[in-house]
Amino acid sequence: MAQDLGGRDEFESIVGEAGDRSLARPFHGLVLETRRLVLRAPMPADAPAVAELADSAKVAQNLVGMPHPYRLKDALDWIEEAAPDDGQKHLVCLKSPASAPVPIGAATLDYRRGAKLPTLGCWLGEAWWGREYATEAAHAVIDFAFLHQGHDKLSFTCRVTNTAGRRLIEKCGFQMVAQELGHSTFFNAVVPVDRFQLDRRTWASLRRWEPLRLGSLDRSALAGLDE
Ligand SMILES: CC(C)(COP(=O)(O)OP(=O)(O)OC[C@H]1O[C@@H](n2cnc3c(N)ncnc32)[C@H](O)[C@@H]1OP(=O)(O)O)[C@@H](O)C(=O)NCCC(=O)NCCS
Repeated sequence: MAQDLGGRDEFESIVGEAGDRSLARPFHGLVLETRRLVLRAPMPADAPAVAELADSAKVAQNLVGMPHPYRLKDALDWIEEAAPDDGQKHLVCLKSPASAPVPIGAATLDYRRGAKLPTLGCWLGEAWWGREYATEAAHAVIDFAFLHQGHDKLSFTCRVTNTAGRRLIEKCGFQMVAQELGHSTFFNAVVPVDRFQLDRRTWASLRRWEPLRLGSLDRSALAGLDE
């Protein structure tokens, strides 16, 4: 069962304590729930579903570290690899009225392998693209990272040719900060990648953005202006 991760009051109090790592809560397999999705820790029994979703050239060629073909053993290795305490490793599952939530992809926050900042990763099985599921999953990972893990800045990297990845991350408020080279497992070659970042203050500002209210011009507000 997903936990209630706090309402606006908790949001304000935690955001107000920007950067206070004493508030950080370890990930430890918590379940994140959004309107349509459940993000939970992957389990060995998920390996066949993960392997089927990930075994796609279109997915692998856009991710620097994903093997292709993607076998059951790759899925088991990924599932069994421990996530860092203040990182995240989720199987992204679609809620279903008739069954348990259905795995559709993965979302991670990691800063091992030399990354200086916690780095967001997200991929979905091809059949699930184009329905804003990745945006919804990324929002959950980002909110959890800032609200509950106390991170101050997140990073995201995608190949320069990856228009969907770029669009996804810009919609989440990330800004491009550098262009660099990364090693692609798929191509077994170095490829250019764009690096993006999102800091806590930008995220908090976007989250606080109030709905616009439209009204008609009140003549009393103009009193004295036409003289
Ligand atoms: C990137 C990826 C996760 C996007 O998943 P998705 O669920 O289709 O994304 P969303 O539906 O939330 O859409 C995100 C935005 O990208 C746009 N987009 C999606 N596919 C696109 C494409 N092929 N070309 C251009 N824009 C695209 C969407 O239109 C949307 O923007 P909009 O709201 O302005 O229309 C998915 O394509 C994928 O798994 N790709 C392979 C792995 C990868 O590239 N991961 C990201 C790098 S770590």
